[in-house]
Amino acid sequence: MWMNMGYWENTLDFPTACRALLDEVLKTAKLLTPESRSLFSNPNRALTIVDLGFGCGDQTVYLIQKMSKAIPAVDALTDKQRFPLMDRYVGVTPNRTQFQYAESRLTAFGMHRRKDASPSVQIFCADAAQPASWSEKLSSAAKGEAASPSPPRDVNESATLGDSDSRETWILALDTLYHFSPSRQPILNHAYRELQASLMAFDLVLAEDASRLDRVLLMVVSILTGTPFANFVTAAQYRKMLVSAGYAEDGIEVRDVSGHVFAPLARFLKNRERQLGLIGLGIGAYRVARWMFGWWGKSGAVRGVIVIARR
Ligand SMILES: C[S@@+](CC[C@H](N)C(=O)[O-])C[C@H]1O[C@@H](n2cnc3c(N)ncnc32)[C@H](O)[C@@H]1O
Repeated sequence: MWMNMGYWENTLDFPTACRALLDEVLKTAKLLTPESRSLFSNPNRALTIVDLGFGCGDQTVYLIQKMSKAIPAVDALTDKQRFPLMDRYVGVTPNRTQFQYAESRLTAFGMHRRKDASPSVQIFCADAAQPASWSEKLSSAAKGEAASPSPPRDVNESATLGDSDSRETWILALDTLYHFSPSRQPILNHAYRELQASLMAFDLVLAEDASRLDRVLLMVVSILTGTPFANFVTAAQYRKMLVSAGYAEDGIEVRDVSGHVFAPLARFLKNRERQLGLIGLGIGAYRVARWMFGWWGKSGAVRGVIVIARR
């Protein structure tokens, strides 16, 4: 809840697990191949990713590097036909410290505020849960209308890239929507109705069969971590929220990846605790996190899911 999770299939290392979770979300959305390779973009399509809750910007840098690469595997394509997959990245965080840290990293990587940059990168400090409060600049950036669009990738493309039917927008929400207060519904409505966007997320849901004791414990954890308890809905209720925003039932996929997340993360924290103990350091809050992820891993009361809703 207060720490990022991760996808622990082939790793014992935290940053790698966090990147693997992002890859898994992108693969489920079919924006990466099953081998985690970047796809070639359709030259007639401009892809915008609106990343809600990008943390300290690790995922921003990773995504820009990953989704900008031209993979020289498709021999039939000439260099001229190799286009970056992502044309525009728009990131949102409510946290000024995270914003400033991410901004300095993006500048250090030469990824920010470059007029000729492709993808174009803009980050904003704003509450993604309250799209009605967004500035004009953020609203138009998320709609793909910002002042400095990516340069046309080919002279013949310039006419088509501005057309709304040639745009594709994805909302990315990695381990963040369950924080949204008072609820996820306003951003889901905004994504579907205003941004015409699809959604890809890693999120938490409540198991249908969670016991009363599990629900009470979860309520305590929610209060302690400042997470709205009402956000712990079941997968079926989550689907209903997406449908009420406008998404078609058959465009929604909810994939349970709990087995790759909670128990391995609890094991990682236990090992880290042991190592720190050897040099005389305790890891206080981490101990609580280990207990919580261990509980979720064992009881199955809270599930970690990848949610895709296609527009
Ligand atoms: C567990 S962290 C995940 C960070 C990052 N996405 C990752 O996976 O490493 C949760 C993030 O959600 C962000 N967040 C919480 N409420 C938010 C809101 N209303 N709007 C945008 N981001 C929010 C926090 O700033 C925090 O960085």
